[in-house]
Amino acid sequence: MEGKITGIAGPTVTLAMPGLKMYDRVLAGAARLFGEVIRLGPEGAVAQVYESTRGMGVGEPAISLGKPLTVRLGPGLLGAIYDGLQRPLPEVAAATGPFILPGSQWPALAEERVWAFVPLKQPGDKVAVGEPYGAIEEDGTRHFLFADQAGTVAAMASGSITLAQPLAELVGGGTLTAAQEWPIRIPRPWRRKFAPTTPLITGQRVIDFLFPLARGGTAMLPGGFGTGKTVLEQAIAKFAEVDIVVYVGCGERGNEMADMLEEFATLTDPWTGRTLMRRTIMVANTSNMPVAAREASIYTAVTMAEYYRDMGCHVLLLADSISRWAEALREISSALEEMPGEEGYPTYLASRLASFFARAGMVETMSGKIGSLSMILSVSPPGGDLTEPTTQACLRAAGAFLMLDTGLAHRRHFPAINWFQSYSLYDQEMTAYFGKEVDPAWAGLKRQTHTLLQREEKLREVAEIVGAEGLQDADHLVMHTAARLRQEFLRQNTFDSDAFSTPKLTLEKAARLLDQHTAAEARLARGDFLTDILREMA
Ligand SMILES: Nc1ncnc2c1ncn2[C@@H]1O[C@H](COP(=O)(O)OP(=O)(O)OP(=O)(O)O)[C@@H](O)[C@H]1O
Ligand SMILES: [Mg+2]
Repeated sequence: MEGKITGIAGPTVTLAMPGLKMYDRVLAGAARLFGEVIRLGPEGAVAQVYESTRGMGVGEPAISLGKPLTVRLGPGLLGAIYDGLQRPLPEVAAATGPFILPGSQWPALAEERVWAFVPLKQPGDKVAVGEPYGAIEEDGTRHFLFADQAGTVAAMASGSITLAQPLAELVGGGTLTAAQEWPIRIPRPWRRKFAPTTPLITGQRVIDFLFPLARGGTAMLPGGFGTGKTVLEQAIAKFAEVDIVVYVGCGERGNEMADMLEEFATLTDPWTGRTLMRRTIMVANTSNMPVAAREASIYTAVTMAEYYRDMGCHVLLLADSISRWAEALREISSALEEMPGEEGYPTYLASRLASFFARAGMVETMSGKIGSLSMILSVSPPGGDLTEPTTQACLRAAGAFLMLDTGLAHRRHFPAINWFQSYSLYDQEMTAYFGKEVDPAWAGLKRQTHTLLQREEKLREVAEIVGAEGLQDADHLVMHTAARLRQEFLRQNTFDSDAFSTPKLTLEKAARLLDQHTAAEARLARGDFLTDILREMA
C-alpha cells in the first residue's frame, strides 16, 4: 500500500493512505523512516515515527508494510544488544559508526550462524501452535523452538541448521523455521497465571531480608537524582537468581550503558558461573537516541522476555527508567494534540502502565511448562516528588515499592532503600518460604530488625529533646545495635566483595548481630556495665 505524508508534528506524521489499520508498520518519507500507526481519524492516519523527522517534507511518499511492529524471536537473542526497534547495535556500529543511519534496516538475529538442532517431533507426529517441536543449545540455555502453525510433520531436520532454513515440513505444505516474528504490543498467551510463591533473590540484603521480591512479581524503584537507581538496577541484573535478564536502558546516559556492557562481558553469573552476557539481552535507548523509539523499547524488551518465559525460564526484566518512557509517551501525545491529563501526561498513562505490568507473572505456558517474568522498574520523579503521575501510576500496579532516599544517599548509605517507607506485598509468602528453605529463625530475626530500627528512630527523637544523657543504658544498647544493623547489614557496597549475598549469608549476618544484642541485653539485666559490654562486643 502506498500513500503520501500530509502533515508532520514532532515525532508524528499524518498519512493519506486508505486501508491502513491500527498499529500497522509504515515506512515514512523519502528516507523510509520506521513508523507505526497510532491513530485513525477523519484527518487521515497518524503514525509515530521512530527516527528523527528532521528534513522530512509534506508530500513525500509513505508505504505500509501491512503488519504490526514485531520482534524477531529465535536463537541468538542472548548476549545481543539492541535499540528499541531490535536493531543490533554492535553490528550497526561496526558497519556505519556510532550513529544509526535513519531508515536503515538490519537483521536482528545472526541468520547465517550454525546451531545444533535436536528435533522433538518425528515425521507423522502432530504439532500444535505453541508446542515445542525442537530445541537448540543456546549459550547454556535450552532454547525450545515453538510451532507457529499446526499440522502433521512430513519431514524434520536434525543436526547443524541455520535460521533461514526450514526445519520441519508439514503435510500440505507449511514449514517451521527456528525464528518467528511476534507483534510487540500483544502479550504472548499463557494457560494459567499463579500467585507468586518463590522469591526472586537479588543478592541485596536489604531487599531479600526486609522487602523480598517474588518470581513473577513486580517492583518499582523510585528515587530522586543520584540516589542509586542505576547502580542498584545493574547490581540486580548481575546477581539476581534468574535464568535470563532483559535490561532496558530507557532514556538514561549512554556511557553508563557502555560501562555496563564492558563489565557484563567479563563478569560471571554467581549462580551458574557462565559469563553474564550469556544470560542477558540488552535494549538500549539512551538519552542521545530518538525519543519515539523509546516508547516501543519496553514492548520490544518484554516480548523477548515472554519468549524465554515460554521456554520455562525464570526471566527478569529491568528498566531504567520508566519515567523517561512516560516522557516519550507525553511527547507523542502532545504532538497528537490529545487532551492532556495531569502534568501534561496523556490520560491513558496509568492504564498503559498497568497493562505493561500485567505482562509479568508466574505462568503455566501454552506448552505446559512453568515460567516466570518478573519486573523491576526504576522511576525518576522530578524533584523526588512521589505524588507525580508516573510514580502514582506505578504505585497502583507494582507489588513492591523500594523507595530510594535522598538523605541516605547523601550520607552514602547505599543501597539507599528507606526501611520505613518501602514495602513488599510478597513479604508474608516469601518470609515463610525463607523460613522453610533457609532457616526457621528468618521471620523472628526480621521482626527484631524492624523493631530495633523503629526504636532507634523513636529514641533519636527523645534524645533530641532530653539529650543523649537522658537515655537509659538499654536505650543506648538499642541505638548501638541499630547503627550496626544499618552500617554492616543494610548497607552494601556494589563496588567491593560485599556486592552480593546469598540468603544463607544474609541470615547468618543478621543472626550474628542480633544474637550479640540479645546477649548484651541479658548482661545488662544482670547488672554488667554498658561500657564493658560494648568494649567486649567490638
Ligand atoms: N550500591 C552502591 N554502592 C556504592 N556506591 C553506590 C551504590 N549505589 C549508588 N552509589 C553511588 O551513587 C552514585 C549515583 O548512583 P546512580 O548513578 O545509580 O544514581 P541514579 O539514581 O541512577 O542517578 P540519576 O538520577 O542521575 O540517574 C554512583 O555513582 C555511586 O558512586
Ligand atoms: Mg541513573
